[in-house]
Amino acid sequence: MKIIASAQEMQEFSIASKQAGKTIAFVPTMGNLHEGHISLAKQAKETADIAVVSIYVNPAQFGPNEDFDTYPRTPDADIKKLQSLGIDIVFLPAKPELYPFGNEEYTQVICPRLDTMLCSISRPHFFTGVATVVTKLLNIVQPTKAIFGEKDFQQLLVIKRVCKELFMPVEIIGHPIVRESSGLAMSSRNNYLTDDEKCTAANLFKVLTQAKQDIEAKPAKLSDANYPSSLEEHARIALVEHGFKVDYFEILNAETLTKDINDSSRSLVIAAACYLNKTRLIDNVYIEL
Ligand code: PAF
Repeated sequence: MKIIASAQEMQEFSIASKQAGKTIAFVPTMGNLHEGHISLAKQAKETADIAVVSIYVNPAQFGPNEDFDTYPRTPDADIKKLQSLGIDIVFLPAKPELYPFGNEEYTQVICPRLDTMLCSISRPHFFTGVATVVTKLLNIVQPTKAIFGEKDFQQLLVIKRVCKELFMPVEIIGHPIVRESSGLAMSSRNNYLTDDEKCTAANLFKVLTQAKQDIEAKPAKLSDANYPSSLEEHARIALVEHGFKVDYFEILNAETLTKDINDSSRSLVIAAACYLNKTRLIDNVYIEL
């Protein structure tokens, strides 16, 4: 396994590999790798000749009062895990290289509409930060495929949209959410939770699953415009009863992330974000009708 810190070296490696006929699968991460990341890395290893994983805590996707400084950073342990998986390249870019003109002045990638809803309401900077860094990373690594977890469903849609609109020659692949046995979606931010909070946090998936089962049991009820909002309201109340502060709980068309849903919608997503004390958790369930 090779560790590359220079963007230029990474790009030259990728160009030469592709000229030699190799395919590249890429998993961008912010490190502190858990089973969710490991399963993305395994998929990368299985689907291409060369598997590249990047580790970079991207300052542009954190707001002024968020956890950029305290975000868990465990590069040595991460590198060991990636080595044991047989990952070919770990790209560890140095911050000044990705933002050569500094934190105040940099070209931004903005994804309209999708960045005005759900997570964007409480984190308005987030998707511009993600779209910007992912565009940089994809231009550097030039992968054939890039793999992202479906836990951040909105992020996945933003990235797909950016790549399509900017004609970037990469296939974006969503990877199913990896969960703990309790149902809690794996996340680096779960490190902030106490054992008791982790037990409570598992209720988020239970409430999402209940809403999904209600819809799957009687999809025809979706033709009543009030039905999704009554399910949402019911779920929000259940979450508050479990001790969460709800940021959002929305039943949406999975392709457009709009409220344009009815019994003939092919796919829906129920997306939720809530706080458990100071920790913000996100999760979602997908429904194929
Ligand atoms: O999902 C993440 O870990 C990050 O948002 C990403 C895609 C690596 C961009 O920094």
